[in-house]
Amino acid sequence: MNSFPQGWYAILPLKEIRSRLVVIKRLGIDLIVWRDNKNQIIVMEDLCPHRSAKLSVGTFKDNKIICKFHAFEYDASGQCVHAPEFNKPIPKLCVKKFATKVEIGMVWMFYGLIENDLAIEPLQQIYDTFAGTYCYISKIWKSHITRCIENQLDYTHLPSVHHNTIGKKFTMPQNAKFIKSFDGIKSFHRDNNDGPSTEYVFPNSWILNISANFKMIVFFVPISEVETKFYIFNFRQFLNNFMTKKIFDFILNITNKIILRQDQMVVESQGLTPSNLSNNELLMKHDGAIKLFRELWNERM
Ligand code: FES
Ligand SMILES: [Fe+2]
Repeated sequence: MNSFPQGWYAILPLKEIRSRLVVIKRLGIDLIVWRDNKNQIIVMEDLCPHRSAKLSVGTFKDNKIICKFHAFEYDASGQCVHAPEFNKPIPKLCVKKFATKVEIGMVWMFYGLIENDLAIEPLQQIYDTFAGTYCYISKIWKSHITRCIENQLDYTHLPSVHHNTIGKKFTMPQNAKFIKSFDGIKSFHRDNNDGPSTEYVFPNSWILNISANFKMIVFFVPISEVETKFYIFNFRQFLNNFMTKKIFDFILNITNKIILRQDQMVVESQGLTPSNLSNNELLMKHDGAIKLFRELWNERM
């Protein structure tokens, strides 16, 4: 195990599986993502258990992936069903396959030993309400996932980091409330729970509730211990007719890129150590959500 707690991680938008096989790295593991003959998404380690050749340089035949090196054939369960040099299956050879689900337009992979349920109700609600009306961008940061998530939970950086964008007219909430549960952290920045609120959904999603008809979901996808890929989805129920959608999607995506770049510079400067191991930091009253996040991350480790 490394610095990632076990759980269901969003790893890739389904839209990005445009060919039979996609090669990615997630949670420090080289993976192949492919569709079997029943259109099921399979996520496997990109590693032949015979002598470690990459399966991604192999080929497909009859719903099996064939390793380029010695042409051993593996089925969709990862089992070696044919080894040409013996002309028979090798039952003890099995590619590592990960439990996978496709929900809310994302591929999810279970990382860890004891599989639990995928708990994404708050994300599902948004997806159902806004189905088909979103746009997204992605960007890779040289940061540990914990630093990326904490940046999103931190509202006090808005007037400094985003002084000329979203932080321009920001008033610092003095009575923000944070509610931690087993599955995440809700943050309310204004009294009476009005105004924008955020929700972190363990392990790698975050929601910004801007208004009833405008929301954002961010997926923080760990590539490795030192790289995290952001997928920023915007959902809205306005300016969505065929004339305005493309234009407004473009404006929204550009705006998000500008804001993200402002964050990236500062967060990357924090270094690559996971935040929950940074014991020498002094958290303040306004870092309440960050304190809870570190607790939750450690508890779920
Ligand atoms: S390394 Fe893959 S078949 Fe030998
Ligand atoms: Fe920010």
